[in-house]
Amino acid sequence: MRDPRKTRITLGAAALAFFGWIAGASAADGDPAAGKRHTLTCNGCHGQSSMKNVPLLGGQDAAYFVAAMRAYQEGTRPLATMRDVAKGFGDRDLRNLAAWYAQSTGPESEDTSAEAPPKAAACAACHGADGSQPATAGTPKLAGQRVAVLAGALREYRDGKRVHEIMQTQAKMLDDADIETLSAYFAARRGLHLR
Ligand code: HEC
Ligand code: HEC
Repeated sequence: MRDPRKTRITLGAAALAFFGWIAGASAADGDPAAGKRHTLTCNGCHGQSSMKNVPLLGGQDAAYFVAAMRAYQEGTRPLATMRDVAKGFGDRDLRNLAAWYAQSTGPESEDTSAEAPPKAAACAACHGADGSQPATAGTPKLAGQRVAVLAGALREYRDGKRVHEIMQTQAKMLDDADIETLSAYFAARRGLHLR
């Protein structure tokens, strides 16, 4: 006879996968060509190789992209420039924009081989082993992101300027040296890129 507990666990896992798929699909079902039409203003900052404090968006997770834009609209992420940029977009526009950036595959940065710092193990559970394969939709890729962006985000979580319960808890366990080491490590992985 089959173990009923096993069946339940399998069903539970299937349900999780299904809802994960729905959550992913709802952000990933945008139309990239329609999204591209809104990117003229974005390119002035996000498309410039010289702007080292601006996040790279090429290859970023679609659900995270939408969540970040909503956070600017709602003011939970405080940057005034991005609030003004984001406020004109409805749900459909955001999903289209997210699809435009998420479907991009390169050119990707080189993966510079380096030992993962010990504290990167804690990050892997959500962001993926080298920050390039987030475990769930809505978690950002870190691999290839600019070092100043990663370090800036971690400091903002730690100081409470960027509000997100999970990441605030994570960042409280990091000192300045950890932030530098982890940011340099993830920035050097192959992943996000200019778009
Ligand atoms: C004037 C420069 C500027 C323009 C124009 C601009 N952005 Fe941004 N954007 C930024 C900066 C700087 C940040 C980092 C802000 C922060 O720390 O919260 C950012 C953050 C973001 C993020 C969050 C990324 C992450 O990794 O968390 C997204 C998504 C985004 N922008 C999308 C867009 C889109 C889409 C457009 C065009 C419709 C746009 N931006 C236009 C400067 C700009
Ligand atoms: C339990 C899951 C989880 C763990 C563990 C975790 N993160 Fe995160 N991380 C997230 C989520 C979800 C977000 C998106 C938060 C938001 O919207 O502000 C995020 C956001 C970030 C960002 C902001 C990225 C951007 O583009 O702005 C950085 C940087 C980051 N994490 C680094 C780390 C590091 C370094 C570790 C390990 C010390 C870590 N995270 C551990 C889930 C996690």
